Amino acid sequence: MKALPAIEGNHNLKNYEEAVQNFDWEDVRKTFSWHKTGKVNLAYEAIDYHAENGKGEQVALYYSDARRDESYTFAEMKTFSNKAANVLKEANVKKGDRVFIFMPRTPELYFTLLGAIKIGAIVGPLFEAFMEGAVRDRLEDSGAKVLITTPTLLERVPFDDLPDLETVLVADETYEDNGPFLQLNKRLQAAPSDVAIEWVDREDGLILHYTSGSTGKPKGVLHVHEAMVQHYHTAKVVLDLQPDDIYWCTADPGWVTGTSYGIFAPWLAGVTNVVRGGRFSPTDWYETIQRYKVTVWYSAPTAFRMLMSAGDELVKQYDLSSLRHVLSVGEPLNPEVVRWGVKVFDKRIHDTWWMTETGAQMICNYPAMEIRPGSMGKPIPGVEAAIIDDRGNELPPNRMGNLAIKKGWPAMMRAIWNNEAKYQSYFELDGWYVSGDSAYMDEDGYFWFQGRIDDVIMTAGERVGPFEVESKLVEHPAVAEAGVIGKPDPVRGEIIKAFIALRQGYEVTDELKEEIRQFVKTGLAAHAAPREMEFRKSLPKTRSGKIMRRVLKAWELDLPTGDLSTMED
Ligand code: PRX
Repeated sequence: MKALPAIEGNHNLKNYEEAVQNFDWEDVRKTFSWHKTGKVNLAYEAIDYHAENGKGEQVALYYSDARRDESYTFAEMKTFSNKAANVLKEANVKKGDRVFIFMPRTPELYFTLLGAIKIGAIVGPLFEAFMEGAVRDRLEDSGAKVLITTPTLLERVPFDDLPDLETVLVADETYEDNGPFLQLNKRLQAAPSDVAIEWVDREDGLILHYTSGSTGKPKGVLHVHEAMVQHYHTAKVVLDLQPDDIYWCTADPGWVTGTSYGIFAPWLAGVTNVVRGGRFSPTDWYETIQRYKVTVWYSAPTAFRMLMSAGDELVKQYDLSSLRHVLSVGEPLNPEVVRWGVKVFDKRIHDTWWMTETGAQMICNYPAMEIRPGSMGKPIPGVEAAIIDDRGNELPPNRMGNLAIKKGWPAMMRAIWNNEAKYQSYFELDGWYVSGDSAYMDEDGYFWFQGRIDDVIMTAGERVGPFEVESKLVEHPAVAEAGVIGKPDPVRGEIIKAFIALRQGYEVTDELKEEIRQFVKTGLAAHAAPREMEFRKSLPKTRSGKIMRRVLKAWELDLPTGDLSTMED
């Protein structure tokens, strides 16, 4: 597909090359009031600052789902997050304590997340689809002291196995207090609306997002308050937010996009933020854009592909003319989807690349820059990216290698919780953060994604570690061995496919397949359950007993299996 020329208009980033030349993170830091005091609190800068500086009456949050339809000004967000902070203080939350939030999107999620940050706690959002095993791993590892959840999700919280967990706040107006389980709503109502902000250091903990690698349990990626410098910067130059924008990020705060760009970036920029609760539905989504007159829309390739398959006729039933800027993240954005966006919305979808670990956007397409469909764009001003070989040497243009970033951008993770060795392993190549993605850069500095170097699966934009799924599968009494891979899929990017060897005495039946699928669904998460299963007498393993996913993948894709010298006989 041909390159698309820059979009004319009054964009925040007018000249990319010039911005890169003159860039200094220190200038961005100076835009915050904390530059003078040295002490900071992201929740203050995102909410209170605007409430106190002329935006008190501006809507900060439009929230709707099938049952609720609400809006909150910056002044109201300040009040409700203060109240939430006071409720958490009553529950004995202190600076640095972990407060986890396991609930679907509702205004209370946003109040409590901001409230926890206001008192210096480290927040941990958990995706509502997680089942007991996944919830346990994360609460255990983080040592969470307080959990905020709903009556339904509470059933998946193994409270008695979690010695650090002291209080559970249940968001439900009819919930009756019961020992450490307390109703959130009435406490929010009764709590004072003022709170003393806990001013913290820029390097103090802000948020923990658990994410999957190719081995081991999910790891807790820690971000600090300093990340706001990059959230704000990218809100300006990548999201191109202007004061009167209506912004909608479709991601759930259980994933990093839903916090960095569903909460922090828009509010740091003082912009009205739309949250649509409930599941994906093409009609709800188009209605959301039409109803709120959304101007800037940030979503993901799987969602765009699902909208695409819902048909162009549907789009025509809505007035989407408010849209000014559309962006995508999480998986490769096919040129075909870009073409569709131009056809139906008359908008180019701008791809952005980043990761849980990077905390904020890193390589992006900007409105005032030519788009090359299929490319992730260029590094944001202030970030230096390169393609390097396995020894850390930079490769020339058009050579595929490791996508790496020069260490030291504001939103970079500061730790893997409880796992310093894992943290250090990202930086083994002197001065570089190695992303785990392979890519190349063209002569003009555009980056092109090629794939993951490890076995991490991206399914419908969600990152799934094959090891977690395999571990769950072998817990099933019928399963002797399991190997899990991502299989290419036109809509979801990849789907999860499991290769399974059954124990003696079991036979493959449809019932058994369904039972195994349900076992992963209920034990781990619905999005982690294999959509396809293939049964084999045994699976390819190394001599040390490790399942060779590479061979499974080659079988699946009809590719050569490569070097098999380490395979057991
Ligand atoms: O493989 C890359 C893919 O998503 C991975 C990061 O996943 P996660 O930490 O869940 O964060 C997703 C949203 C920030 C990356 O290592 N990825 C992300 N953006 C893109 C992408 N792959 C291709 N193109 C992108 N724009």
